[in-house]
Amino acid sequence: MPYHHVPVMVDEVLAYLNVQPGKTIVDCTLGGCGHAKAILERTAPDGFLIGLDQDIEAIENAQYVLTSYNNRIALFHDNFVNLPSILDRLGIIGVDGILLDLGVSLHHLESSGRGFSFRKNEPLDMRMDVSTKITAEQVVNTFKEKELAHIFSCYGEERFSKRIARAIVRERKKTPIRTSYCLAEIIRKAIPKQSGPQRIHPATRVFMSLRIYVNSELEKLEIFMKNVADLLTPRGRLCVLSFHSLEDRIVKHQIRALGKTCSCPPSFSKCICGFEKKFRSLTKKPLRPTGDEISANPNARSTRLRAAERI
Ligand SMILES: C[S@@+](CC[C@H](N)C(=O)[O-])C[C@H]1O[C@@H](n2cnc3c(N)ncnc32)[C@H](O)[C@@H]1O
Repeated sequence: MPYHHVPVMVDEVLAYLNVQPGKTIVDCTLGGCGHAKAILERTAPDGFLIGLDQDIEAIENAQYVLTSYNNRIALFHDNFVNLPSILDRLGIIGVDGILLDLGVSLHHLESSGRGFSFRKNEPLDMRMDVSTKITAEQVVNTFKEKELAHIFSCYGEERFSKRIARAIVRERKKTPIRTSYCLAEIIRKAIPKQSGPQRIHPATRVFMSLRIYVNSELEKLEIFMKNVADLLTPRGRLCVLSFHSLEDRIVKHQIRALGKTCSCPPSFSKCICGFEKKFRSLTKKPLRPTGDEISANPNARSTRLRAAERI
């Protein structure tokens, strides 16, 4: 099964990462390798790409589709929080650019068979890395009602979180909830009927929140962002594509935090506050895809791009 994904904002990513021949770039989220390929083309003839993905199927796909660049790539099946130790092992002190394209790929939604989408009847798994322990099925069938409501409201901003959690707990007493269709149906019945056409499917927010929880997406991003500046060479660039306001908030705050200067009074001969300015933000506001890109690829519509430069 080919690994399907349509990369978003490719030109903007290449520009903000300042991708040039000879540079060493890390793609932390290879997915279908659309960005990776564009980076390899632009860094030719002697640039290098370090590629990561926590999904083994993405790595197997990368080994296949990037085979002609074999002498200029190193691929790792790993979570991007482990990038510092990967660079350490490679003996690399700093790279010229780091790309994060967060969330799931179309492959996850359309053909992974892991229950990411309410449009497919699949086992409720939702792990991007299938070697990790907890699945969406375990969460839905074993977590307390309060915990479920918290996940739905915190990660999905679902306003009917309590009603949905109550319905799940009621239904799972009758029979365990094992599939995406089964869960989607419980959610549909739990929320009040709304008049007029619906902008999104009623299960959208709950599915997204479960996925974010199961994969610890926000926690991993937070850890990664704290250390990212130290992985870049001076003038090296970070570019992050996010699809969720909570992700974007983490990226924005961390770029801001790493952009703070020393706050000691000028009369102090030595800094005691410990703030070393590491980043210069390149995007005051997040960049959005053009109307043309959204028309061609509606999945791109909620993308936000933020970039920063290492000082
Ligand atoms: C939106 S897709 C990337 C698409 C890719 N840029 C392309 O051009 O096809 C996101 C990918 O990142 C991976 N991913 C998400 N979070 C990750 C993490 N913390 N560490 C490593 N990979 C991650 C997912 O498995 C998925 O394959």
